Amino acid sequence: MTSPPPLGSSPATHATETVAIIGAGSIGIAWAVVFASAGVRVQMFETHEGARLIALSEVESMLTDLFEAGLLEEPVDQVMPRVTMSETLEAAVEHADFVQECVVEDLDVKRGLFAELDRLTDRSVVLASSTSTIIASLFAEDLPGRERCLVVHPANPPYFLRVAEVVPAPFTSTAAVAAATDLLTRVRITPVVLHREIEGFVFNRLQGAVLREAYCLVRDGVITPNDVDTLVREGLGLRWAVIGPFTTSELNTRGGIRRHAEVIGPVYARIGIERGTDDPWTGETIEHVAGQIERRLPHATWEENVRERDRAMIRLASLLQHFENPLAAPSHAAASPL
Ligand SMILES: NC(=O)c1ccc[n+]([C@@H]2O[C@H](COP(=O)([O-])OP(=O)(O)OC[C@H]3O[C@@H](n4cnc5c(N)ncnc54)[C@H](O)[C@@H]3O)[C@@H](O)[C@H]2O)c1
Repeated sequence: MTSPPPLGSSPATHATETVAIIGAGSIGIAWAVVFASAGVRVQMFETHEGARLIALSEVESMLTDLFEAGLLEEPVDQVMPRVTMSETLEAAVEHADFVQECVVEDLDVKRGLFAELDRLTDRSVVLASSTSTIIASLFAEDLPGRERCLVVHPANPPYFLRVAEVVPAPFTSTAAVAAATDLLTRVRITPVVLHREIEGFVFNRLQGAVLREAYCLVRDGVITPNDVDTLVREGLGLRWAVIGPFTTSELNTRGGIRRHAEVIGPVYARIGIERGTDDPWTGETIEHVAGQIERRLPHATWEENVRERDRAMIRLASLLQHFENPLAAPSHAAASPL
């Protein structure tokens, strides 16, 4: 694959003022909420008449819930006028400087839509896909304006999980990546830029690793599905709200990541083989991970880092103490083994 120099006027020369959102399903609606509540104008387009008719009221009801929870800076009636629904794709992309595609997860549909978007918009407009799994090389490689195409994969819902993966293809210009990360930062979504395209990106690969193991454990009669959910919801998930898996390895083990890998690495390697994956962590990778994490959390101040973690977890526990989760099934619910 060759990477010709980007043509046309370069994206990211000015801040995005108007985003066109194509597809008004759950992700399109949620993006509209994120962009509009951060002051960005939103022009939506949706092919399904039923979805088109209810989209704006769905945006409004989500904004109302956020306002009532104290999570919106302005009243809903000041945010809503920024969001409009267009009758045609052409009208939705007119005057937009950024397009966020949110249609069904179907390669042919995305390929056709990106061809149309490439034809309808100026080369300075960034064309981003919300796709959860499909790399931009598969739907944009043959387009004349492919240099402004990339993936901006949100976590669902993006007004709650404020992080998104930015995945450029080899042909995506650095200006398009910069425009995407600038826009995300402005709307308070943390951008995570991947170094290369990979199916499923990283968010869903991590989620997939947990799900693969969970399905095996349920299949083998080790645990019920509801108890898996409880362990993640009350355990891993809460911990990961404060620190990620590498920082957990660093702070949960005296001796840090290297010691953790020494003690637990062989156990995980055996579990991998049990599941058909013989891919143990190498010394080189462990060194790389430890070095990167220690730049942020020097091992010399390990005791203080652990105290900081504990203080952060106590603060989160205090925020959550009156939170009653209506979706948390009791652990004995539906507990029939397979
Ligand atoms: N649901 C999630 O958890 C999640 C998370 C991150 C990313 N995504 C990705 O976001 C995208 C949208 O997912 P969703 O869950 O909102 O799907 P959805 O089915 O709820 O909505 C898709 C919408 O796109 C519309 N549509 C289809 N073709 C169209 C076209 N050519 N022009 C305009 N509208 C069109 C459909 O009518 C539908 O309303 C997918 O690529 C998905 O992989 C989904």
